[in-house]
Amino acid sequence: MSVAAVMCVASLSAQKNELPIYLDENAPIEERVEDALQRMTLDEKIAFIHAQSKFSAPGVPRLGIPEVWCTDSSHGIREEVLWDKWSGADWTNDACTAFPGLVCLAATWDTEMASRYGVAIGEEARYRNKNVLLGPGVNIYRTPLCGRNHEYMGEDPYLVSTMTVPYIKGVQSNHVATCVKHFALNNQENRRHSTNVEISDRALYEIYLPAFKAATVDAGSWSIMGAYMKYKNQHCCHNQYLLNDILKGEWGWDGVVISDWGGTHDTHQAIYNGLDLEFGTWTDGLSQGRKNAYDSYHLADTLRSLVKSGDVPVEVLNDKVRRVLRLVFRTTMSANRPYGSFVSPEHSAAALAIAQGGIVLLKNENKVLPMNPSKVKKLLVVGDVATASMMKSGSSTTLKAKYEILPLDGIRAAYPEAEITYMKGYSPSKNDKVERVADIVAEAHKADAVIFFGGLYYRGGQDAEGVDRASMELPYGQDKIVEALCGANPNFAVVMVSGTGVAMPWKDKVPAIVQGWHCGSEAGTAISSVLTGEVNPSGKLPYTYYTNLEQCGAHALGDYPGDEKHHQVYRDDIFVGYRYIDREDITPNFPFGHGLSYTTFEYDNVRINRAKGTANSKFVVSVDVTNSGDVDGKEIVQLYVSAPKGDLPYRAVKELKGFAKVDLKAGETKTVNIPMDFSSLAYFDEQMHDWNVLPGTYKAIIGASSQDLRGEVSFEIK
Ligand code: GLC
Repeated sequence: MSVAAVMCVASLSAQKNELPIYLDENAPIEERVEDALQRMTLDEKIAFIHAQSKFSAPGVPRLGIPEVWCTDSSHGIREEVLWDKWSGADWTNDACTAFPGLVCLAATWDTEMASRYGVAIGEEARYRNKNVLLGPGVNIYRTPLCGRNHEYMGEDPYLVSTMTVPYIKGVQSNHVATCVKHFALNNQENRRHSTNVEISDRALYEIYLPAFKAATVDAGSWSIMGAYMKYKNQHCCHNQYLLNDILKGEWGWDGVVISDWGGTHDTHQAIYNGLDLEFGTWTDGLSQGRKNAYDSYHLADTLRSLVKSGDVPVEVLNDKVRRVLRLVFRTTMSANRPYGSFVSPEHSAAALAIAQGGIVLLKNENKVLPMNPSKVKKLLVVGDVATASMMKSGSSTTLKAKYEILPLDGIRAAYPEAEITYMKGYSPSKNDKVERVADIVAEAHKADAVIFFGGLYYRGGQDAEGVDRASMELPYGQDKIVEALCGANPNFAVVMVSGTGVAMPWKDKVPAIVQGWHCGSEAGTAISSVLTGEVNPSGKLPYTYYTNLEQCGAHALGDYPGDEKHHQVYRDDIFVGYRYIDREDITPNFPFGHGLSYTTFEYDNVRINRAKGTANSKFVVSVDVTNSGDVDGKEIVQLYVSAPKGDLPYRAVKELKGFAKVDLKAGETKTVNIPMDFSSLAYFDEQMHDWNVLPGTYKAIIGASSQDLRGEVSFEIK
């Protein structure tokens, strides 16, 4: 606290002979908010609600209210950047733990992993003195082409919601605010600043809002980030419908709406349509891009003069200030504030455990996997991805990691006795000399086993922000190499290092396929521990692996990426992911919820119990699961509900309403109980503008995936 602030505080307390309430960490937050608010001048209030640098806002220096510092965090805490630039400040103490991408966390289907992830990444943010962590990203995977699917948690609103809540609680247990993003409808990167989305209320409430409602209402995220897109022709960073009517109105949320960087475009809307804290605006009021134009922000000089002239009631300003004060008292000025930790062994262990729990065994014929190190003497590893760093992306997912164990590093450590031959095969850079395919095939004939590493880089048009994929195809001629390797060696596995669905034209010819995700610092250790069998894979897909785009509702029904006026109608409506697959009875390459194990599981005796009583009673669906193989393993049991359509125009065939991950030793049987709320049987009724449960016959369906259904039981709702 500055000397001036101390003097001021001293003088205040001398008068009243006690600590001012806003400084009393144990006083009720709302009293601290009101006390601070009435002490702030107009200038201090205005400064308080917009940026002073690329990632910070000023606080109130005179009162000793600290600055607000945000940090990107998609899979780790971003390095320090220069005051007013995106570029790194070249600090030497800010290299972080790189965690797996959130899509890998989703693939664990393990809420304890989500909590562990939030605690760990929150500790790193806290240690780096950031009090707003710009995540988690929870946008729904609507098209495999979206450049940021790797940062989000898949296609199903129930899975995303259920994994988001413990992550947020974990982060905020460090007294660091999450800023759940991007609210809302940011399901693509192409034309993200201009696309106006038109969508039914039913699809909005059933598919695209649930994760944000869970994040703000159930998990109590202390801030939220508006999206770049437009909804009903208003940018989501200042949107009457999403921010005032739904978020702050229907949901009664008391947190801070933070703009996406450069997402604020209209002063009047910024003042009245729910924006509380403006960051990243590139306007000097006249054009784009003048540096340090912070006084020219929409919530800056213009707002000050409008309040002074009485055109804008001071209460409009006060509501924004109250929300930011609330965030400060929950974080930087909170009681018993933890200290965090950085690049600790616990964080590496968390990153490894999440990766090992999220890696998905997609296919495994003739027990090609695991490749036991005692049997593999000559191993051929092919693919640039096995030796490529996955940290720099040139945008908000860019990380400076303390260390990164690459796939080939992991292989060398896991197969210490083997003679390992590595061939790049393909490369993103033109000046890399890559081997002829014939030479790779010749090597493959000589090896005991062959592993091809392929996938997508954090580059535009692949797994990156700002632009979508142009197609589902793997880049750099990877398919050609995989096709050539098919048949060259029966012990052949393909590992995908990627964060979104890609085309796999060779899927029927490759005996073993692993979805390896982007796993961060521990990637090599995680992937090789699954390949050797040290870890029995237990992840399951959080999205559908379409064979081609025609299998995806956004392309078959919707008009992705929108028309020439950048207007896009989500004609796929609620039929996103498996909901479309079910409706059209399609067989994708790999269905939502799919994931194999090195053992097998049997399911018996699906039954349902209903706690008697009121409308919000709970159901419990139970099933006996047996590990019928000879290795211990974990199984993700999924509960889907098929509800009556009644006279609705449409309804999904079934929807995920519960899941449980169970640990089973070889031969062991356990009863798995999956609770389900009565409210989760509801659809969103547009006329009522509310949720409604139809009477009739429902089916609780237990599946090992959305297409591998193992039993069902019907029940009546009167
Ligand atoms: C970016 C992203 C957002 C990120 C912010 C700050 O454009 O859309 O996710 O947190 O700007 O880097």
